[in-house]
Amino acid sequence: MSILATLLFIFLQILFIPFAVIGIAIVAYKQLVISKKLGISQTAIEVINARWTMHVFGLREDHNSVAIASVLPNDSVVGLWLTLFPLWLRYRLTGKQFLYPRIPEPGTENYGDMMIVRTQYFDKMIEDEIGEVEQFVILGAGYDTRCFNYPDYSDVCFYELDQPEVQKHKREALSAAGIASDHVRFVSVDFAGDDIFEKLKHAGYDPSKKTLFLWEGVTLYLTEDAVRQAMLDIRSNASPGSILLTDFYADRMVKMGKSNVGQKVLDYTNEGFGFSFDFSSHAQEALKEFVNSTSMSLNDNYFLGQKSPKGPYMVVAKVCVTAS
Ligand SMILES: C[S@@+](CC[C@H](N)C(=O)[O-])C[C@H]1O[C@@H](n2cnc3c(N)ncnc32)[C@H](O)[C@@H]1O
Repeated sequence: MSILATLLFIFLQILFIPFAVIGIAIVAYKQLVISKKLGISQTAIEVINARWTMHVFGLREDHNSVAIASVLPNDSVVGLWLTLFPLWLRYRLTGKQFLYPRIPEPGTENYGDMMIVRTQYFDKMIEDEIGEVEQFVILGAGYDTRCFNYPDYSDVCFYELDQPEVQKHKREALSAAGIASDHVRFVSVDFAGDDIFEKLKHAGYDPSKKTLFLWEGVTLYLTEDAVRQAMLDIRSNASPGSILLTDFYADRMVKMGKSNVGQKVLDYTNEGFGFSFDFSSHAQEALKEFVNSTSMSLNDNYFLGQKSPKGPYMVVAKVCVTAS
């Protein structure tokens, strides 16, 4: 069955090349040009598209991401289907993912696997922690749906932080998709200068309560100083036992993005790359040293692409606020 399905996939994929080209063009146009017109982040579209894909290919249930993607003016579900239909058909015939999206053996992840694998690591860590906290703060939330995906935790106070234009746009999309958001407190910030805890406290954040912070896919767009400052601020404004789940990226990944069309694409919406690590050797030590410099302690961490001779290209990490 698998061989037949692969042959059918190759045949269909060849037939579908013109449709895939059109699909990619529509998605790219909406992501870049419409996001630019609206003055909002286009990198957040890449994440919601990955979540849409995971849902459609049976890797992760997320009806809220599917609903939001279908109403966003800067996204195109039609474009995604035109691009991915042959792969989806193969998945439906065999029940197995193939090429993309996929969950590879740990350590062998390539750049194409990044959002899929990192989402799974974050999901697992959030599920381990959310029952233990009273507040859940998403830093740089973009179109993340996690504040809407845990209805069982009605005692938890949910906060989303992002730039004002992104939040305004997200709230319009939530409303158009019929997703209730009254339980979420939206706090507009700029990590590059704002005192995020002054704003959070103003919105009701209580520093004495154990808190889970999620900062996914954001540090690479900030400067090292801004990342360190935000972590020092978390250390000073969160109770012991609070957790930060975040990710950091390797120089090699950021350099690759900068050296080709990637930088121009990001510059188009003023989202240039910033902070990255030299993970080419002793990656674990480099990560630990940085976390220690923020007076927090490193806990579980998962490096992606670790089996490459160039070293891992990113890491998903759990960082703990400990009693001083
Ligand atoms: C790649 S998206 C990640 C979105 C989300 N964390 C997720 O996983 O779906 C990066 C997000 O960080 C936000 N961001 C980037 N720089 C920021 C800054 N200086 N202040 C506030 N938010 C920022 C962007 O607006 C965008 O929503």
